[in-house]
Amino acid sequence: MFADRIITHIDHLYTTEETPPLRKGALNRVRVHDDAYIAFKDGLIHQIGMGSHDHLIGEHTILHDGRHSIAVPGLIDSHTHLVHGGTREDEYERLLEGTPYLDILAEGGGIHGTVEKTRKASFEALLQKAFRSLDQMMLHGVTTIEGKSGYGLETKTELKQLHVMKRLNERHPVKIVVTAMGAHAVPKDIDRKTYIESVIADLSTIKRENLASAVDVFCETGVYSITETKRILLAAQKLGFRVKLHADEIDPLGGAGLAVELNASSADHLMAISDQDIMTMSTSDTIANLLPGTSFYLNKEYAPARKMIDQGVAVSISGDYNPGSCPTENFQLIMQLASNKLKMTPTEVLNAVTANAAYHLNLFDKVGSLEVGKRGNVVLMRVPNLSYVFYHFGINHTKDVFIDGLPTVIDQRIIRRKNHE
Ligand code: NIG
Ligand code: FE
Repeated sequence: MFADRIITHIDHLYTTEETPPLRKGALNRVRVHDDAYIAFKDGLIHQIGMGSHDHLIGEHTILHDGRHSIAVPGLIDSHTHLVHGGTREDEYERLLEGTPYLDILAEGGGIHGTVEKTRKASFEALLQKAFRSLDQMMLHGVTTIEGKSGYGLETKTELKQLHVMKRLNERHPVKIVVTAMGAHAVPKDIDRKTYIESVIADLSTIKRENLASAVDVFCETGVYSITETKRILLAAQKLGFRVKLHADEIDPLGGAGLAVELNASSADHLMAISDQDIMTMSTSDTIANLLPGTSFYLNKEYAPARKMIDQGVAVSISGDYNPGSCPTENFQLIMQLASNKLKMTPTEVLNAVTANAAYHLNLFDKVGSLEVGKRGNVVLMRVPNLSYVFYHFGINHTKDVFIDGLPTVIDQRIIRRKNHE
């Protein structure tokens, strides 16, 4: 059968051919096809090969030149706080002075400042701001993200954030897997017990309206305790949500261990994870989702990635894009930090932002590797090999991006389609 479109003569195409969760040796293995082609039909990957692709060319087939480029699966940023109102550069100099993140939060700043701005922002303003961020992510090669609510801390605004992501999924080619995070902080104006009950009550509405597929809780000193986190996540699981946690980011409360106990999709951050919880995670399929951009920006410790990987924990890497602890959409910088600071090899990082990320978002049957029948999500980077992406850091190597078999970025410029604004 003829292809709709073929990317031809790609110098090197990189993809895993194994089934995630990838850990230890498998995390550091990738299949490389040289002088490769990748053909799309009806939005899906139709064929991948080396050498001649002539048999796939019909009257209407469009050819796309892949020379001087490498191809990788569309990148997946599996932890973002995409939708929020306003910015927080007013906290920047306090950060330089060393004021702890949790102190700013306890004073009613931090997340609370963004909550105020998000409550005030109109649906349209939140939509436009998030749309521009998604564009930036896509320009850096991201084709799928996870996006959380959590800057409403009241039913109305939490639902507003979730509806913004629903609308973005209709308008923007980057797909958002939506997570409800009413338990991102405890609002200032309400007693915590009452608020936890209202977070749980809202989950039924969110499920009924199909506004999210997962639930996340910020399990941290002064935010939600292990007991409170467990209560919220058990209620979420009862309703059929996948669950995940912001765990052991600042204090080692044991959030990673709780994640394993609950069979959570991921435990995220983990800068302060205990040795015992590393062992526990290594025996589970819960992914350790590490966010090196947050350590970099807050000038904090990095998660002990090498120790985790060497002990058999399956890891993914994410950006944590948000206005307080990681205000950047540059996902390639995040990947470079993962390599340089977490001491992960280029291959490990690639698998961490493709196959393992897709696995914990429950999407590996559709994205996360270049395989026949999966969505045609591919990134071309104008580099000689995969290592070069990490070596020449701080710039955008993306040349072209394909989502569902169609170009969305060509030569670093966005291509808009009818239903996209
Ligand atoms: O993942 N840790 C909690 N939440 C975010 C930060 C949110 C904010 O500061 O606005 C994070 O780092
Ligand atoms: Fe986060």
